[in-house]
Amino acid sequence: MRDFWEKRYREAGHAYGTRPNRFLCNDAPCPAAGDRVLVIGDGQGRNGVWLAERGCEVVSVDFARAGLERAEALAAERGVAIETVHADLLEWDWPENAFDAVVEIFVHFPPQARREVHRRMVRSLRPGGQVILEAFHPDQLDHDSGGPPVAELLYSESDLADDFRDLEIEHLETRQVELDEGPYHQGPAKVVRMIARKGRGRSR
Ligand SMILES: C[S@@+](CC[C@H](N)C(=O)[O-])C[C@H]1O[C@@H](n2cnc3c(N)ncnc32)[C@H](O)[C@@H]1O
Repeated sequence: MRDFWEKRYREAGHAYGTRPNRFLCNDAPCPAAGDRVLVIGDGQGRNGVWLAERGCEVVSVDFARAGLERAEALAAERGVAIETVHADLLEWDWPENAFDAVVEIFVHFPPQARREVHRRMVRSLRPGGQVILEAFHPDQLDHDSGGPPVAELLYSESDLADDFRDLEIEHLETRQVELDEGPYHQGPAKVVRMIARKGRGRSR
């Protein structure tokens, strides 16, 4: 799978564009300037760089080196800095209790890996920290606007409600949207979106 992303990110242009994901920049509560934000599977960095432009201290993790190189170039072009970490999220030594927000935009794992990554995300949040997540829904199989064409890699509201049951889920919805994110995310799509917050009394 890693080779798939390396190849995609060596193509000309930006696979998902250089503008941030619409849910992140328009609908989700924006992390504050100075917040430490982890962006998992940040690819070519459109979301991490946008958060850095808002004054966040961004850590972008991805296992595709070509993506991170493009993310660093985009950050330099915009005059901001992001910390990039080249790692497989299933093997990474995740910091605990370290972030004010974790952002996951269109990063898809099979069920067991998904549960493990989401468990690590919860532990990496500080009390009061939030998860901002958008992913393709199983009904996305009816569309050809992007996402993995494999049912077990797609996420439903009940998957997310279960994975993040220890957080306060502030927003969880399935939605039909019109994607316009670079050449690989174009057209009508079915997505699931979630905002969830770690209680102030919890450190794990
Ligand atoms: C569809 S792309 C989305 C990129 C970015 N989030 C965006 O919205 O522009 C999925 C990303 O997840 C990364 N990814 C998938 N599995 C991963 C893993 N196990 N560890 C680290 N990164 C992973 C891929 O390299 C790719 O950059």
